[in-house]
Amino acid sequence: MTDQIPHEATMPLDGPLVDTYGRVADDLRISVTDRCNFRCTYCMPAEGLAWLPKHEILTFEELTRVLGIFVRLGVRSLKVTGGEPLVRADLPVLIRLFREAGPDLDISLTTNGVLLDRLAGPLAEAGVDRATISCDSLLRHRFEEMTRRDALDKVLAGMRAAEAAGLTPIKINCVVIGGTNDDEVVDFARWSRETGYEVRFIEYMPLDAQHAWEREKVVPAARILAAIDAVHPLLPEGHANEPATTFRFADGAPGRIGVIASVTEPFCDTCNRLRLTAEGMFRNCLFAMGETDLRAPMRGGASDDDLALLIRQGLWSKWSGHRINHPDFVQPARSMSMIGG
Ligand code: 5AD
Ligand code: SF4
Repeated sequence: MTDQIPHEATMPLDGPLVDTYGRVADDLRISVTDRCNFRCTYCMPAEGLAWLPKHEILTFEELTRVLGIFVRLGVRSLKVTGGEPLVRADLPVLIRLFREAGPDLDISLTTNGVLLDRLAGPLAEAGVDRATISCDSLLRHRFEEMTRRDALDKVLAGMRAAEAAGLTPIKINCVVIGGTNDDEVVDFARWSRETGYEVRFIEYMPLDAQHAWEREKVVPAARILAAIDAVHPLLPEGHANEPATTFRFADGAPGRIGVIASVTEPFCDTCNRLRLTAEGMFRNCLFAMGETDLRAPMRGGASDDDLALLIRQGLWSKWSGHRINHPDFVQPARSMSMIGG
């Protein structure tokens, strides 16, 4: 792992948040709960996980305080995630506090959508700008097989509610798993043309709690794009500071296709992400082996400057990139639901 040891450089104590490779981090994902009301096979076992006890989860006040520090350190966009963020009680109240802490922040939400029909309006009113909704199949039975919940209709209703509440552009996350839902990518593209939603196909990553990930089940983004392009020709748009590479339909139809090729074409060299877990651990990478505890110092009386320094140090130790494709790859102990997408 010698190539992962940061080269010698002096950590700046002010200015933007940077790591030793010169990457500036200005996009924060906050997980507001580790709980989820789905049991997606690629994320957690059927029986769920041992959820964190309440006192281990950051309070609204703690979350808002940490967000304020990140905003002062230059964070410009916030994604609220989980687990399933909408199962956190009074989420709109928290969003209102987040909005006060960052009036100019771009605030979006990643959700499985099952509670959105009820909450899209209150969340938009509280200050959420956009929603990304997970949907891995447009077939009722397969949706149930993949999420272990018979909830496709409810999720589709959630998407419509999000659209009506103005949480647009609506983005749909679809994790593609070989032999499970890879035969649906063209159907999803047609649906994108009909609805105008941006469908983002995500390569299956080794982030499941059960450690059942198999490389053979990763469907390369290039293959997904080729299958769609053969039926609905695509025009590339580029990267635009996002992990997704996006495409428009050549015939001018509405909708958009994105691919997140985390496994076959890692984008670590332009990564601008920061992550805070529900219990207040700061992570500089989804696949990081270490994390920085912000909760213990915060509950022990640390000042905002102390916490800002811990964040700077935590980012300073960020490695050049994940090692999924190296023979010595070790899957992190936390699954996606425990980190926050
Ligand atoms: N591989 C790829 N994507 C995943 N997600 C959860 N687990 C995995 C995995 N193992 C996705 C969810 C959600 C987003 C936050 O991350 O489907 O859309
Ligand atoms: Fe829940 Fe998201 Fe994990 Fe599915 S992927 S079980 S919706 S946290």
